[in-house]
Amino acid sequence: MNDLMNKIVSLCKRRGFIYPGSEIYGGLANAYDYGPLGVELKNNIKNLWWKKFVQSRDDMVGLDSAIIMSPKVWEASGHTGAGFSDSLVECQKCHERFRLDQIDMSKSCPNCEAKNNFTEPRQFNILMKTFLGAVEGEKAVAYLRGETAQGMFVNFKNILDTTRKTLPFGIAQIGKAFRNEITPGNFIFRTREFEQMEIEYFVREAEWEKWFEYWLNEMKDWLKIIGVREKKLNFNDIMEGERAHYSKRTIDIEYEFPFGLKELYGLAYRGDFDLKNHFKEPPYKDADPPAGGGGEFWPHVIEPSLGVDRTVLAVLCEAYDDSEKDRVVLKLPPKLAPYKAAVFPLLANKPELVKLARKIYDDLRKDFMVAWDDRGNIGKRYYSQDEIGTPFCITVDFESLENDDITVRDRDTMKQERVKIKDLSQCIKKLL
Ligand code: GAP
Repeated sequence: MNDLMNKIVSLCKRRGFIYPGSEIYGGLANAYDYGPLGVELKNNIKNLWWKKFVQSRDDMVGLDSAIIMSPKVWEASGHTGAGFSDSLVECQKCHERFRLDQIDMSKSCPNCEAKNNFTEPRQFNILMKTFLGAVEGEKAVAYLRGETAQGMFVNFKNILDTTRKTLPFGIAQIGKAFRNEITPGNFIFRTREFEQMEIEYFVREAEWEKWFEYWLNEMKDWLKIIGVREKKLNFNDIMEGERAHYSKRTIDIEYEFPFGLKELYGLAYRGDFDLKNHFKEPPYKDADPPAGGGGEFWPHVIEPSLGVDRTVLAVLCEAYDDSEKDRVVLKLPPKLAPYKAAVFPLLANKPELVKLARKIYDDLRKDFMVAWDDRGNIGKRYYSQDEIGTPFCITVDFESLENDDITVRDRDTMKQERVKIKDLSQCIKKLL
């Protein structure tokens, strides 16, 4: 793995962001567990997204649909067929498998160097199968969802009936998706179990282009908010023939990861493909149908689709900074940082300092995630918080006992200023 990736993976393990999955049993390849800091970072990303795209808007509603749905859903959506398959070739010498689009068949095997020794390409469906029911013979095949999107399509009519939304409007969902990827890898970039944040935005066909542009700008805005610089992005308009089976236009938003320029998010125009496959009758009726009746149709859909884990990885890549000697800083946007502040008593063996620091810590915890550290010298405590991205460190010293103020040290500028204890919570809120 690339040097920067190695540093990020090692920091994630060492500080409790992301652990290799099932580690005590020798690990499970390409499976990861989010640790105490990782779950905070991931939740902050998901909560920010939900607030921006669901709670702050009149034209959006949320959903949390089941991971296991009727197999008929996946048959209707085209996912059980060739549409959700990868072409796979196998090296006949070392038996390593590759995705056809990721290797050059005219060259030797990237694993064992064998020449001209690949099998013919064959289709491999990546929906993950499971079995329902306890009694052998009665077990029914089902699938773990391959995208969160389908839960939103099959509930389209339920949502219309219960919310009285009119076009244009959208449904959003955050949740796990599963794919039997042939070549998972690059840490949390491509795994078989991952999380998505997806929007299905329903529009009239005549307006799809306008809304496609609109959602592209919304995605750009989101990337700015989470600290991903535009110069690290590439917008790849996917050619016909290379798009997913349901898509009439797709832009892949690619990010310059340490291992290359790769898809971070996708924006697709799915037309009426999904609603038409799920609903025999047009599921939408205009509130004021045209004279002479009618006004029933299948809305078209624009889909901004974002991977949560790829967001975590891009955010970590952007934030990681070891340009200063002996200091690693995660320059996370404060809104995403696991801890917003850390509180230190200057000396752990002075009960009066510990008592006041503890009170400040307990008060701040009512509003923010706050860390406590009373070990070692202050410099080491600062560096320890820098490495996990804590924006502010608060030190309680002897002056604090006299003047009711503390030192606030800024992660990025390393500047320190005295702030009155009574103003502290407000001050952090403002900086966030
Ligand atoms: N509903 C549309 C859809 O699922 P996709 O391009 O297949 O489209 C959308 O996936 C996003 O989900 C990707 O842009 C990526 O962020 C994330 N994603 C897809 N496969 C993934 C995997 N194996 N591991 C991690 N994230 C993945």
